[in-house]
Amino acid sequence: MQETRIRILDALAERPVAGPDLADRLSVSRAAVWKHIEELRGMGFEIAGGDNGYELCSIPEFGPAIAFGLDAPLDVEYHDSIDSTNRRARGLAAAGRERVVVVADEQTGGRGRLDRTWASPGGGIWLSVLVRPGVPAAHAPVYTLAAAVATTRAVREAGVEASIKWPNDVLVGGQKLAGILTEMEGEADRIGWLVVGIGLNANVDPGEVPAEGVTSLRAERGDVDRRVLTQRLLEEFDHLHRNHGAVLPAWREYADTLGRRVRVETGGRTVEGEAVDIEFPGGLEIDTGNGTVTVAAGDCEHLRPTGE
Ligand code: BTN
Repeated sequence: MQETRIRILDALAERPVAGPDLADRLSVSRAAVWKHIEELRGMGFEIAGGDNGYELCSIPEFGPAIAFGLDAPLDVEYHDSIDSTNRRARGLAAAGRERVVVVADEQTGGRGRLDRTWASPGGGIWLSVLVRPGVPAAHAPVYTLAAAVATTRAVREAGVEASIKWPNDVLVGGQKLAGILTEMEGEADRIGWLVVGIGLNANVDPGEVPAEGVTSLRAERGDVDRRVLTQRLLEEFDHLHRNHGAVLPAWREYADTLGRRVRVETGGRTVEGEAVDIEFPGGLEIDTGNGTVTVAAGDCEHLRPTGE
């Protein structure tokens, strides 16, 4: 959102302000203030104009309003509907942009891991963060873990006990609430750009997401304020992606996988055993009973404990 509009909202968030006072404060004309107010109303902000001046009555639940009150240095690009926020973010990367988050209410061509499609009906939180971290490509998995931690924290703050299945599914009661798709380009010694796409089934019915073992925030606790949740998620991700040391301890705290029997399909082989720990940048340590194996990537299945 444009800087002047954010400053107008900041001023109105404190108390009602008369048009001429706003114009003075922002060093713009009264006509410009009026135009900005109209634009903001068009975005869904309810702004009353009375004897006391303009008054901010309500903030939209989603949309470009995500930029208002967001405590992270990210430009927000919002779409009511788009094919894929990851595809759009990759396009922005090719155009030289960075520190942008592309957010959509609905995706018509959402993509999941392993070339799967990702159902993305209106009401979800579908977003992709574009950053240029300037670290070796081998470190990329830690950004995916950071996204899983950020999503889990934001969801827990909304009152739902989410946990993480290695490497990056966010679960509630064993059912999938959110998934993460990370894409990147660069040389071995340095990532050029990295796009972290997060799909969170927020205010949608699980039936709208035709896959097995899927849940949504609506199903778990009722609809959420997606603007606040998205802001918290982005703030956490912004903090963690610059503080790698904080990622693994938080991931361990939220992990559903550690201590469980797992089967991981990785590079054409299967590793089975007890998941004992995670190591930087994101490998899972599995005690196979015949020694410990670390798998860097793969599809992980939680197995029932032997004897059940
Ligand atoms: C998975 O398979 O678990 C990962 C799903 C990732 C979906 C998100 S939704 C926002 C972003 N845009 C996409 O097309 N995919 C990711």
